[in-house]
Amino acid sequence: MSSGLSERLEAIQREVARELERAADLSEIEAIRVRTLGRKGLLTTEAKSIGKLAAEDRPAAGDLINQFKSELESTIAERERALGESVLARRLQAEAEDVTLPGRRRGLGTRHPLTIVTEDLLAIFRRMGFDVARGPEVETTWYNFEALNIPEGHPAREEMDTIYVSDELVLRTHTSPIQIRTMEEQPPPVRVVCPGRVFRSDTPDASHSPYFHQIEGLWVEEGIAMSHLKWALTEYAREFFGSDVELRFRPSYFPFTEPSAELDLGCLFCAGEGCRVCKQTGWLELLGCGMVHPAVLEGVGYDSERYTGFAWGIGIERHAMLKYGVPDIRMFFENDLRFLQQFVGR
Ligand code: DAH
Repeated sequence: MSSGLSERLEAIQREVARELERAADLSEIEAIRVRTLGRKGLLTTEAKSIGKLAAEDRPAAGDLINQFKSELESTIAERERALGESVLARRLQAEAEDVTLPGRRRGLGTRHPLTIVTEDLLAIFRRMGFDVARGPEVETTWYNFEALNIPEGHPAREEMDTIYVSDELVLRTHTSPIQIRTMEEQPPPVRVVCPGRVFRSDTPDASHSPYFHQIEGLWVEEGIAMSHLKWALTEYAREFFGSDVELRFRPSYFPFTEPSAELDLGCLFCAGEGCRVCKQTGWLELLGCGMVHPAVLEGVGYDSERYTGFAWGIGIERHAMLKYGVPDIRMFFENDLRFLQQFVGR
């Protein structure tokens, strides 16, 4: 065989061996296979050239090519298998899990104490037949003041430490404007509780925060009297603080109610003896309330001769502080886990 076929095939074989050595992944091996054994590969080219040989040389040349072809096939297959194994081995090692490692515990979140108290209070009032209503935190001065019988120049307006957004917009100083919005939207009877955040430009200290939360309550219907107010607020206070609490209604003043009152709770910490929390009085101020002022009812188009009602405003932080003995209102907003985790499961 003078054509040098044997030498060329050996050269191809050496070249393939070198390339296989260098191949780093299966796709490179596949490329080598295509280049040598493929339809347009080197061996195919050699096989096609057999036709040019003398007839008596063809069978031997064919045999030789086939021999190299099957050798190359098995060399490539072998390298492919070996590389596949080492890729797998590397992957298994990289993804190995140490099943003896202790698991990571998932920290369970908890309801914030203010959420707990809000939900508890709303649940009590819902059972008494109240719906829940909400309103905007940025409020017009009309809803925050005028509609509640607090005209411009009224001392109550100055005392509110209002945060103004513009001449006519404020961050609401109380949840009472939701009363007005609710009554504007529906005819009596109305029975709603209105939770929400309120804002005052107070300097933070143990009992003041520039934002806190309230629940406003309102019940307007024919024939509602002060006795209904006393019943509803006594019921809620006993349910929330315990049936054995002492309660007293004390005359007070709010522009939007007439008459107005405050509800006091017998001090939970000294049983009325007098202590630091109740400032030696034996009583804790709980909320403001009263019979809705006729001017407020007329302002929303209700006939104040026919309908009467009562309203009240609850401070949620205050309730949470009293119930859980929290000494500083700022604790609710600091998000210190040591504080928050004390309410797990409440
Ligand atoms: N809006 C009052 C405040 O923020 C609380 C309040 C008092 C609401 C008496 C009422 C009420 O509805 O009748 O201080």
